[in-house]
Formats: sequence, structure tokens, C-alpha cells
Amino acid sequence: MVDPIRIAVAGVGNCASSLVQGVHAFRADPSMVGLMRPELGGWSAGDIEVVAAFDVDARKVGRPLHEALAAAPNCTTVFHPLPAGGVEVVMGHALDGVAGHMADHPDERAFRMADAEPVDIAQTLRDAEVDVLISYMPVGANEAAKHYARACLEAGTAMVNCSPCFVASHPEWAQRFDEAGLPIVGDDIKSQFGATFAHRVLTRAMGDRGIRILRTYQLNIGGNTDFLNMLDRSRLASKKLSKTEAVQSQLDARLPDEDIHVGPSDYVPWLRDQKVATIRIEAEGFGGVPMQLDLRLSVEDSPNSAGVVIDAIRCAALARRRGISGVLEAPSAWFMKSPPRQMRDEEAERQLDRFIVGEGAEGL
Ligand SMILES: NC(=O)c1ccc[n+]([C@@H]2O[C@H](COP(=O)([O-])OP(=O)(O)OC[C@H]3O[C@@H](n4cnc5c(N)ncnc54)[C@H](O)[C@@H]3O)[C@@H](O)[C@H]2O)c1
Repeated sequence: MVDPIRIAVAGVGNCASSLVQGVHAFRADPSMVGLMRPELGGWSAGDIEVVAAFDVDARKVGRPLHEALAAAPNCTTVFHPLPAGGVEVVMGHALDGVAGHMADHPDERAFRMADAEPVDIAQTLRDAEVDVLISYMPVGANEAAKHYARACLEAGTAMVNCSPCFVASHPEWAQRFDEAGLPIVGDDIKSQFGATFAHRVLTRAMGDRGIRILRTYQLNIGGNTDFLNMLDRSRLASKKLSKTEAVQSQLDARLPDEDIHVGPSDYVPWLRDQKVATIRIEAEGFGGVPMQLDLRLSVEDSPNSAGVVIDAIRCAALARRRGISGVLEAPSAWFMKSPPRQMRDEEAERQLDRFIVGEGAEGL
């Protein structure tokens, strides 16, 4: 019998909904499909317990977690009923968490600010004895993401940063976690099998088979609040960088900027949490003869990341148990789009296995 991993979620949106549903679903049926590792560090997915939750939306703050997760504008698939009686969602610090254009969209699809006093985040983390905070800050919420990172440092809480607001891959912040004796996994969660993973694998496979990639694009459309938020192009810089580098890092030679375009491109409300990615690769093979690859991938966005987050949480807890601090390089490279050090996926997974069994530089 292991002690449960006590987590806090910052951002009770669609990804948090899939994570919490997943934890309860695995508790009910440990053989459920979808995890890379049913057991990690002695913990199964059902050993994760949400003990604190922060949001700033009027329909979520002050409500029990299961009600907040079901509240608009959340729109992801409910694949497992959430049992009543979760923690109450408390008011976070909004800072730059909310895009101004949200006011131009109907209530059921967009964000609405709560009229409540923010709590002291660090104190809440301490009071709830949180082991790991999961940051689900919206794209562009760089100040808010750092606010939660600061609270983790103050409270002695590890962090898994699922958003593309750079913390683990920012050398100064990585050092702060290291000096505080706390592990961090980040940044920007890489879905179980999403556009980033598919694009990376295809790019790498072509390189390994001697094919030269000349140009490529990846366009994504979706109808959830993440995509609505990203209509504000000024918030998009870190997401675009994160997704582009995740692909560039797999090429033998970097493509010139004008020959690679990766990014979210539009918001289609009726798609809700479904995301459609279109990938094109133009290349040349033997004799310089041209070839083209076109791929269309359609996934439910939020459940696609939840299993990966469950593994990242267990790695952070494992590092805490072993007294390892700072950025967990192999878990970050395998689970995240923007780790401080990009690796080829097979190398990242190999090093992750070494980390889990306690071998290698960071596994000791
Ligand atoms: N597969 C995926 O869905 C996936 C993959 C990679 C990265 N991500 C990233 O994960 C993050 C979360 O995605 P999501 O789909 O859950 O988004 P979401 O919009 O559904 O949820 C974000 C939540 O954060 C809340 N929020 C905003 N500012 C806040 C603040 N300052 N303090 C506390 N709460 C605040 C919002 O009210 C909302 O409930 C995004 O950055 C997204 O890009 C998601």
C-alpha cells in the first residue's frame, strides 16, 4: 500500500476534467486502456488524489471540484462520472490568465471572471500538504504561470507544467527549483498521440530512411477554450515556438523559418474538444525525386493529454521520494513538447526507463 500522491490543479478546465475523470476511472477499473505505464514508482493512476484546485471563472470558484469540472465553458467528453464530494475550487490570481476577447463570445463558450478575493496560493498548498501542483494555465498566461511556480517554491511543492508558459525550460526558473530541492517536469504537455508526436515521428523516420525534408506545415483547428484563447495571436508566441521546436529538434538539419509552419490556426466552435490536425511534408528521396505526405489526425484533445500527465505526476513524486531536484530531463523530454533538452523520442523513453528504475544521472 503506497501513500497517495496529493496534487493541486491550477486551472479547472478541460484538461483537468480528463485528468480527474481518468484517475477515478482507473480506480474503478485498473485494467482500463490508455496508460503507457499502469504502475510507476509503485503508484497506479488511482493513487492520485486532488487536494486543492484553483480557478478564476465565476462558474467554477466556490464550487466542489466535480461541479466545477462539469461547468461551462468546459466541453470535453465525460467518459467517467465524477463522484461528488471533491475539494472546493478556490480563487487564484487572474493576472494575465484571461484573454480580453473572451468578452466577445457567448457565456457557454467563453471565460467569465469570478468576483472573489484571491487566496494565498502558497499557504493553500501548505495547508493541503500538496506534493505536486499541475499548472494548466492558458496559453499566454506567462505571469500567472510564474505566480504558481513561485508559490510552489515557497510551499515546497513539486510542479508539472502542462502549459507552454516556459518555466522548466527557463534556466533561471529551473535553477530556482533545483536550489529549493524541488523537482519540476515541463513545459507544454505532449499528448499521448497528437499532432506533435505524429509530426515528430514522421519527420524522424524520413530522416532515418535517407529522405530530405524540404518544407512542412502542421495546422490545427479545434472548438474548446484553449483554441478560443489562441485566436488572440499576441498570446501565441510561446505555443508556436514550443510546437515548432518540437518538430525542428527531430530534423537532421534545421529547416529555414520560412519552410516550416506549425501552429494552431483556427477556432471552430462546433468541434468543441475535438481537434483536427493537418500535416504536410514535402521531401525528396533517392535521386532527389520529390514526394509528399499528407496526414489528417482527429482526436479528442483533453483526454489525449491526461494519461501523459498521470505519468509526469508519478515521476515528480518519485523524484521527491528520492530527493532529486530541478528539471527532470528524461521525463520532460518524453512527456513535454518544450523540455530544456530535446531528445529523440526513443532516447527519451530509454532514459525515462532508467530514471524510473533509479539508474542514470538523475535516477540516483
Ligand atoms: N491535449 C491538450 O489538451 C493539451 C496539450 C498540450 C498543452 N495543453 C495546454 O494545457 C493548458 C490547459 O488546457 P485546457 O484545454 O485545460 O484549457 P482550458 O481553457 O479548458 O482551462 C484553463 C483553465 O484555467 C483557468 N484560469 C485562467 N487563468 C487562471 C489563473 N490565473 N488562475 C487559475 N485558473 C486560471 C480558466 O478559467 C480555465 O478553467 C493550455 O495551456 C493548453 O495549451 C493542452
